[in-house]
Amino acid sequence: MPTVFKLMNDLAATLKEKAPKITVENLYRDGGFDGNIPYFFALLAEDTEIKDSNGLPSAVGFTLCSYSYSWDGRTIYMRNILVCDSHRSKGVGKLIFHAVVKYAKEIGCNRIELHVNEHNPARKFYKGMGAINAAEKEGHVYYRLYDVKNKFHAI
Ligand SMILES: CC(C)(COP(=O)(O)OP(=O)(O)OC[C@H]1O[C@@H](n2cnc3c(N)ncnc32)[C@H](O)[C@@H]1OP(=O)(O)O)[C@@H](O)C(=O)NCCC(=O)NCCS
Repeated sequence: MPTVFKLMNDLAATLKEKAPKITVENLYRDGGFDGNIPYFFALLAEDTEIKDSNGLPSAVGFTLCSYSYSWDGRTIYMRNILVCDSHRSKGVGKLIFHAVVKYAKEIGCNRIELHVNEHNPARKFYKGMGAINAAEKEGHVYYRLYDVKNKFHAI
């Protein structure tokens, strides 16, 4: 989980976004390590030629996905994907994406959803992986409620 946490922060820096609010402890809890249903899973891409400070293969990319549901039934929501600068354009992103597709098939998910900033070059990557622009195809608009705990205290 500390590696996932680091990669999430690397992604935020890459995207010039604020650092994630969650902690490593949140990741352990919400990843199902507390015995409850996992809210997410993460896959790491490791370079076995490069060892980290513990002598383990270095993580050079990751994806963090959550379990979701849709009219297609079980669905995976791919929240984040990052390949470290040093390992881009070598097929690592494709490997990670295909690993999610493989897992989706294994657990009976027939849909993978994701969203991305309209200016992000990763859109070409997603398109190449077969993702369809649902905003164009179905006119979907992406909404989000922020700060639910504070804004909806009367409910
Ligand atoms: C998007 C990202 C994960 C792609 O990883 P990658 O390892 O460089 O991609 P790959 O080398 O596996 O490329 C797979 C295919 O996508 C294409 N592709 C990848 N990035 C592309 C880009 N920026 N523009 C156009 N095509 C791209 C490649 O040409 C390749 O095509 P091919 O299969 O026909 O050869 C990586 O660029 C990244 O980490 N970006 C920053 C983080 C980010 O924006 N994430 C998305 C939002 S969470």
